[in-house]
Amino acid sequence: MNILITGGAGFAGSNFIRHILKKYPDYKIINLDKLTYAGNLDNLKDIEGNASYEFIKGDIADERTVKKVLRFKKIDVVINYAAETHVDRSILDPAAFVRTDVLGTHNLLEGVKEFAVGKYIQISTDEVYGSIAKGKFTEESPFRPNSPYSASKAGGDLLCRSYIKTYNLPIIVTHACNFYGPYQYPEKLIPLFITNLLEDKKAPLYGEGKNIREWIYVLDHCNAIDFLLHKGKLGQVYNIGSGVEKQNIQITKLILSELGLGSKMIEQVKDRPGHDLRYALDSSKIKKLGWQPEYKFEEAVRETIRWYKNNDWWWKPLKSGEYLEYYKKQYLT
Ligand code: NAD
Ligand code: DAU
Repeated sequence: MNILITGGAGFAGSNFIRHILKKYPDYKIINLDKLTYAGNLDNLKDIEGNASYEFIKGDIADERTVKKVLRFKKIDVVINYAAETHVDRSILDPAAFVRTDVLGTHNLLEGVKEFAVGKYIQISTDEVYGSIAKGKFTEESPFRPNSPYSASKAGGDLLCRSYIKTYNLPIIVTHACNFYGPYQYPEKLIPLFITNLLEDKKAPLYGEGKNIREWIYVLDHCNAIDFLLHKGKLGQVYNIGSGVEKQNIQITKLILSELGLGSKMIEQVKDRPGHDLRYALDSSKIKKLGWQPEYKFEEAVRETIRWYKNNDWWWKPLKSGEYLEYYKKQYLT
């Protein structure tokens, strides 16, 4: 099977490529990635010589690139991980999000239609449903996105819906909760806090840290996408959650205690505009089909901390240059 993974040089995509190559040595992976600030070939250093793996630098928002890859690589499946993904950056620069998350998705869908690709999986987020104070979002919940990031992801997902209904394309859409684990860019809560604390810097907590997210270890998400690739029903939408809900302050305290540090290392900073209070998913649909998360939250966070401690060669260079400019704009103005 020839699988095109877009955005495979990012956090979740690179973990997924490693997972597939290990489990299915006869599958061929083509990784199409623009290498934005979040794309990093160091994420895949251990598999760059694998004969079943090929990297192509390219932009999904460029229609010609997408069609060239689909025409010449005889792609059976497309899995779209490529996106602008950081909510805070979407507040500073929404246009980049619309370009990749909406136009990029549209180009892929057009390519799937033109070249009769057998399956397309859209990797998306629970944030498209908006915020929920009580209860859980099902796959039938309406889209109420509150940030330019979630609105642009919702735009891509709605295009998927329309291509299922109008052109009967073989599409599966997934909405997952927050991921964490190795190779996550150190701008997201867990890797930012771990790496800051390892560098003797404070953890910049928004407001009182009462916001709630549902957290899934990235390898559990890989298993879920592998499961849907082989057993998911075409034309369907699936929520992918762990059921583990945590306030940001609880996660902060867990990281601090694992590192032997106290709460004086927390710095309360100004809150994110439009900050969603809580996300929570009803994941019974995918569970009924046979998938279950396997990793325990505290153990997997400990493993993640260990990974960042042992791999500062990976994250230290990322926290300079453009990142520092972003960090200053975000936290120091
Ligand atoms: P990431 O930011 O780590 O990586 C995104 C990757 O996409 C990078 O390699 C980047 O270079 C690439 N990319 C960006 N624009 C591109 C373009 N125009 N053309 C080609 N490549 C491009 O992202 P992530 O956290 O790994 O998220 C992957 C996917 O999972 C995204 O679609 C995101 O919306 C979704 N998701 C993420 C989470 C999470 O907690 N991280 C949760 C739910 C869903
Ligand atoms: O829910 C899935 C989504 O999870 C994905 O679709 C997004 O791509 C991913 O970035 C993530 O979005 P969040 O906004 O939930 O993740 P983030 O790590 O940015 O923030 C998690 C929580 O921590 C949120 O309530 C904001 C808070 N936070 C975040 C940062 C970066 C802080 O308190 N301080 C920070 O410095």
